[in-house]
Amino acid sequence: MTKNQVLIFDTTLRDGEQSPGATMTHEEKLEIAGLLDEMGVDIIEAGFPIASEGDFAAVSEIARQAQSAQICGLARANYKDIDRCWEAVKHARNPRIHTFIGTSELHRAIPNLTMDEMAERIHDTVTHARNLCENVQWSPMDATRTEEDYLCRVVEIAIKAGATTINIPDTVGYTAPAESATLIRMLINKVPGADEIIFATHCHNDLGMATANSLAAVEGGARQIECTINGLGERAGNTALEEVVMALKVRHDIMPYATGIDTTKIMNISRRVAAVSGFNVQFNKAIVGKNAFAHESGIHQDGMLKNAETFEIMRPADVGLAGTSLPLGKHSGRAALRAKMSELGFDLSDNQLKDVFVRFKDLADRKKEVFDDDLIALMGASEPADEAIKLKSMRVVCGTEGPQEASMTLEVNGTEHTTTETGDGPVDAAFNAVKALVNHEARLQLYQVSAVTEGTDAQATVSVRLEEDGKISTGQSADTDTVVASVRAYIGALNRLIARRDTAEPGYDTKGVSYKDVS
Ligand code: KIV
Ligand code: ZN
Repeated sequence: MTKNQVLIFDTTLRDGEQSPGATMTHEEKLEIAGLLDEMGVDIIEAGFPIASEGDFAAVSEIARQAQSAQICGLARANYKDIDRCWEAVKHARNPRIHTFIGTSELHRAIPNLTMDEMAERIHDTVTHARNLCENVQWSPMDATRTEEDYLCRVVEIAIKAGATTINIPDTVGYTAPAESATLIRMLINKVPGADEIIFATHCHNDLGMATANSLAAVEGGARQIECTINGLGERAGNTALEEVVMALKVRHDIMPYATGIDTTKIMNISRRVAAVSGFNVQFNKAIVGKNAFAHESGIHQDGMLKNAETFEIMRPADVGLAGTSLPLGKHSGRAALRAKMSELGFDLSDNQLKDVFVRFKDLADRKKEVFDDDLIALMGASEPADEAIKLKSMRVVCGTEGPQEASMTLEVNGTEHTTTETGDGPVDAAFNAVKALVNHEARLQLYQVSAVTEGTDAQATVSVRLEEDGKISTGQSADTDTVVASVRAYIGALNRLIARRDTAEPGYDTKGVSYKDVS
């Protein structure tokens, strides 16, 4: 590794997935891990193996499948977590154990450890991890609010115990750029042995400064950035991978650091993460937002036509955005669909193409022109064949004379059931029909509709988030019929909740990890 190489550590599948409602299925996690590996991410934090059987299985399989990325699992500062983590990551060509403990005064109070007791715990657990694995990352959680002397002391202990990477988390998104750089610089200057390990930066975006803080940490000497695709993560999210990587590329003149990321893969993975997590990317999000490269104003368009550099600091192709192309229609064949999908970053197998082609034809029958965004929405809305609940048919009566009424047939565990229910509007009536056919206590937390393209025949993308017993899941669907898309999204979220009902190990759940149990 050269002096100016910055490692990219992606935690979409751990810190990102920890975001309430962002749960991904096993297959989705494998797919995202494959895309991260392909795009050149150096380290993939694949999950929190002790959290559930599902997390353990996903981390183990990702470890087996990874081609070049190091595969990392998270573990709290106790032997049981670390052993479980090792069991999952050990299958990787290059495994890493990441163990952490909250070191600030507020976090020390949770396990009720004195400074000395915590220091001893850090020594013991890092030593234990290092006896299992050569590649150990240690994090003092809430580092940016930890007393400086104590931070230096525990970092030194972790280095002496064998940690090869020290990550400095800004857990609550509290720091600011100058402070972020100074903190890393101070640790490098003061802590014995600091020159033999890599410092990482892990920022949250509560004050909107995660990207700036991460880049500043690099200026201070950090050589690993921890980040997620689309900035996915709890609360305001984590540092967005696409932002730090593109900032380092575009402003190489003032930040002369290199990453190994193939930036042309950014758009595709951004879309896939949005689709599988159910967290849409805001339109004006830097790099990957729908409007990031759109120039609406006349002055901008005129300038762009004369010379793209007048208003563009990077080319759309640099992040994998194909130029505008002609829409498909109902006469387009399989070859045209395959070519278009590949242009959009989806390399479909023959079976996938078969399935997408059927849905594309169905859409093209209802919609004259099928645009790129329609196809992307179509991919995001695909339903696994083995779902417990499937929509067979529905019909809704709506209009000025209420109450609105929905008749619906669902297949539930292989058996068809039909009902007719009323509601306050067509969506409410349809959701009441689902509730009548599938007994559940889940509460609706979010219902969001957006148009994929323009025009009255545009598809609507609907996101539905449900909560049951503290577990949250999201479903997403797209259709030219908003009520159908709503029902499919609702059923998608319900299927995910059902799949998760029995998977968490008692006492552990990634969505509400208890930091108390560190023994
Ligand atoms: O934000 C944080 O402190 C974390 C740690 C577990 C590294 O995600
Ligand atoms: Zn975090």
